[in-house]
Amino acid sequence: MRFQKIVVLTGAGLSAESGLGTFRDKGGLWEEFDLEAVATPEGFARDPARVHDFYNLRRQRLGTAKPNAAHVALARLEREHKGHVLTVTQNVDPLHEAAGSKNLIHMHGELGRVLCAACGASVAWVCDLSTATACTACGKAGAMRPDVVWFGESPRDMDRIYEALLVSDLFISIGTSGSVYPAAGFVAEARAAGAHTIELNLEPSEGASLFAEAHYGPATKIVPSYVERLLRA
Ligand code: OAD
Repeated sequence: MRFQKIVVLTGAGLSAESGLGTFRDKGGLWEEFDLEAVATPEGFARDPARVHDFYNLRRQRLGTAKPNAAHVALARLEREHKGHVLTVTQNVDPLHEAAGSKNLIHMHGELGRVLCAACGASVAWVCDLSTATACTACGKAGAMRPDVVWFGESPRDMDRIYEALLVSDLFISIGTSGSVYPAAGFVAEARAAGAHTIELNLEPSEGASLFAEAHYGPATKIVPSYVERLLRA
């Protein structure tokens, strides 16, 4: 294969065909819910119960969601590629790992984990959270929050991500609108490192002109066929 070091960035479009909603498409989550109210530290401080309701609903929806052909193809790429593959997802669902991806960064956190603001413990969580939930590590009640990154907070593992982008020779962006930084800036970092850049999306994203190559269509069709070509090259 022509490429050795691959960084894959994924967004909500990758999980859309698994039945999980996107944010900015027609009927997306930010049409139905107020981003400021449910996805910022200020919103949580103002009305934690409202924020818990939003994430409880999303956590419940995870229950039935299964990885689709695009998640499976990316896990295959990691397994079969002779070089290095890092998958960075903005998604808080567990579908990459369910499909078998191992070298994975959840840069916006995970819906299946909760964080205690009192002791800092992050624990796996499947039930609903409320303002009265006690921490299973320190016992304090009322300090639990979803272990996700809100607007105004720092995404996770950024040093590792930038290190990988710096040495990458292929950057693939899949199912993301390219409207939220820092992820939207990764394509520029990869280009500066000399990487070939590819967008795989339903339609051109906001940053479409920054990519050297693009394929448009549903992720379950275009990702498996792209991975197949890449592994054969
Ligand atoms: P968006 O909802 O902004 O964008 C989803 C993208 O996926 C759009 O460009 C769609 O065209 C595309 N898409 C939809 N269905 C698809 C399909 N079946 N196959 C391929 N592409 C498809 O979601 P993100 O870019 O992931 O952050 O949003 C980035 C961040 O904004 C999220 O992580 C979240 C959100 O607010 C936080 O909550 C911090």
